[in-house]
Amino acid sequence: MICQAHSPSTFRTARVIVILMSILMVKKILLDGTPCRKCSQAEEILRKRGYWDRIDTVVYAEEGMAESEGMKLAAEYNVDLAPFFIVKDEEASDRLYTRVFEFIKKELEVPSSGTAEYDVVVANLKYDGIEPGMILDDAQGAFGGELILAFSGAEDVVLIDLAVKNGKPFSVFCLDTGRLHSETYTYLDIVRDHFGINIEISSPSPVLLEPFVSEKGLNSFYREGHSECCGIRKVEPLNRALKGRRAWATGLRRDQSPATRSDLKHAEYDTGHLNDAGKPLVKINPLLDWTSSQVWDYIRINDVPYNPLHDSGYRSIGCQPCTRPLRPGEHERAARWWWENDTKRECGLHMK
Ligand code: ADX
Ligand code: SF4
Repeated sequence: MICQAHSPSTFRTARVIVILMSILMVKKILLDGTPCRKCSQAEEILRKRGYWDRIDTVVYAEEGMAESEGMKLAAEYNVDLAPFFIVKDEEASDRLYTRVFEFIKKELEVPSSGTAEYDVVVANLKYDGIEPGMILDDAQGAFGGELILAFSGAEDVVLIDLAVKNGKPFSVFCLDTGRLHSETYTYLDIVRDHFGINIEISSPSPVLLEPFVSEKGLNSFYREGHSECCGIRKVEPLNRALKGRRAWATGLRRDQSPATRSDLKHAEYDTGHLNDAGKPLVKINPLLDWTSSQVWDYIRINDVPYNPLHDSGYRSIGCQPCTRPLRPGEHERAARWWWENDTKRECGLHMK
């Protein structure tokens, strides 16, 4: 059985040459006639990311029917998994993918040219007074898959929802410090499944972490301040997560901290992180002008999943030993590193 999903020609322009490329997806039908779950999930991921129109043909592999089109292709390409994708173009031999994220990354996310200049001064003029979704849309357009969203909390899940709805490429990373709440680890998987996205995880380097905890114990931050532990568990993994990127986006808001976040801009050069060409990465803060209530209104109206710790009095959530529930009347950052001074309540991810 062959189903023509769309017109069978997709054109991609490379300089002045037009390359004819066609993409075929093979989905499986199980013996009892039901569609394979992984195949339906892959279709949903492609739809959510705005790539479904790029699939020219969908072919079915009917279990137990060797003569079905999909089964013949599985035999021809020596694949025993479904779904799978076959990409044909005029210039190269056929390319086969059995993992949807790899297929998206290698074939659908068009990398930006690397030559287009993005000027933060111009960008900030353009971004003044416009909605976060439009700021993100502009950055997604400018940087393609080389824009990576930092994911940890309520603000960040709003950014993911906006980025998915924009239907343009983006990537997501999370710094797993090894000290997050178990609820946060569960939540990470909920977000992956809800949006059908991959979340790249960057963990602390054992070369730095092991001597540090061996010498100072697991909770030295209560005695000596958090900067050394955050440096090893967050800042160094951030440097690795940003390698090879041109831009990253954060959920920073100005009113999160009058002491440390009031002078941020929607777009900034992050001189602490350089791209492959040795230039500073661009850092985008689309939610800068939003308040916490605007973030929560968005989450509720759009039915976006949130960390269940928020229902137990937590507001700003970081690592488990350094975060407590907020007390009545406290500012939202007061429950992070509460034993330290206001001006020190930054882990170093956003230091200039
Ligand atoms: S922190 O510096 O105090 O830890 P905060 O929790 O306010 O930061 O989060 C601000 C932004 O930093 C988040 O919206 C997110 O973009 C980024 N961020 C914080 N923690 C992480 C993390 N563990 N992984 C990825 N990004 C993070
Ligand atoms: Fe270490 Fe606390 Fe910083 Fe997490 S927030 S990296 S546990 S000091």
